[in-house]
Amino acid sequence: MKGLILSGGKGTRLRPITHTAAKQLVPVANKPILFYAIEALRAAGIEEIGIIVGETHQEVREAVGDGSRWKASVTYIQQEAPLGLAHAVKIAEDFMAGDSFVMYLGDNLIRGGITDFVRQFEDSRPDAMVLLAKVPNPSQFGVAELDGDGRIHRLEEKPARPRSDLALVGVYLFTGKIFGAVNAIKPSPRGELEITDAISHLIDERMTVLPHVITGWWKDTGKLSDMLEANRIMLDDLAGSAVEGNLLGDTQIQGRVVVGRGTVIENCTIRGPVVIGEDCRLARTFVGPYTSIGPSVTITGTEIEHSIVLAGSTIEELGGRIEGSLLGKNVEVRRHQALPRAYHLMLGDNSQVGIP
Ligand code: DAU
Repeated sequence: MKGLILSGGKGTRLRPITHTAAKQLVPVANKPILFYAIEALRAAGIEEIGIIVGETHQEVREAVGDGSRWKASVTYIQQEAPLGLAHAVKIAEDFMAGDSFVMYLGDNLIRGGITDFVRQFEDSRPDAMVLLAKVPNPSQFGVAELDGDGRIHRLEEKPARPRSDLALVGVYLFTGKIFGAVNAIKPSPRGELEITDAISHLIDERMTVLPHVITGWWKDTGKLSDMLEANRIMLDDLAGSAVEGNLLGDTQIQGRVVVGRGTVIENCTIRGPVVIGEDCRLARTFVGPYTSIGPSVTITGTEIEHSIVLAGSTIEELGGRIEGSLLGKNVEVRRHQALPRAYHLMLGDNSQVGIP
């Protein structure tokens, strides 16, 4: 059994964070989303992993390397453009060399992993298996309609009028039969080779496609609110505290807090669950629950809660409180004394600012 992680495509919904960066590398609880996928595959016993990469391939290659950190062997498969999930499968045929495989969308997060799903596939040996979850907004996903026997009757990609509330989760199990299907289908009206069409083709050819409905938490991390929720869920799973940095002055650590090496925290209150990366400097600051602060971040004289701050950013002397926010890399937010007393902004395209 092999793994195929899709880490190409364009992260339009998370702009400006993903204008230049791969959306799969945005960290949740200080770990890139993509790494959770690699860990889930490894936990299910899969060692050989192909990663589909697109225009952000350099960054993905630098972050993941050859996979040895996870005791996995990683092969990069370059996709010339995001031509669809079934197109990604098509170009992975040589890598799979006839093996069954798990396809894992690199922007999906599944709490609890995929090991049970892989076991069920290995035990029951269908031609394909899909993971489904009940969602309140099915028209934003691939949607499955089951028949009376609990088998898949029909799949539709982002239907305007969904026939069920069962969304396709971004994890699929395939045998080599999928290659016949991806080669038989035509691009959809949005110009992509849809994996839903390929799976529907298997069903039309009377092959066995089993559904596996999950009840645990799952997220397709497209938008800011999804990222914050994912961050909250993953921080809730923090096992305990681990403080490697220096705590100076009257610093209070409450609850589960992880502080990286080289970080100095002076006269702050940190109320977990919180992760703070390496080489940060925090002073006179309150960090509230569900906050992830990346490496080399400086925060002084500020309150921050339920937020994600990426590497190298600086927040100085705000006095007020930041909540529900995502700050990209090397962002600077500071109170300044110069006149006129106005907001001084330099914001990238698609930035969002809320001022109370
Ligand atoms: O998240 C679950 C949903 O994922 C399913 O319910 C849908 O049926 C499925 O089509 C997919 O929908 P999305 O619109 O969310 O797919 P997205 O374009 O975001 O791509 C998912 C991942 O695959 C993302 O990490 C980018 C990568 N990708 C995407 C395309 C289209 C590629 O690597 N190559 C591609 O050609």
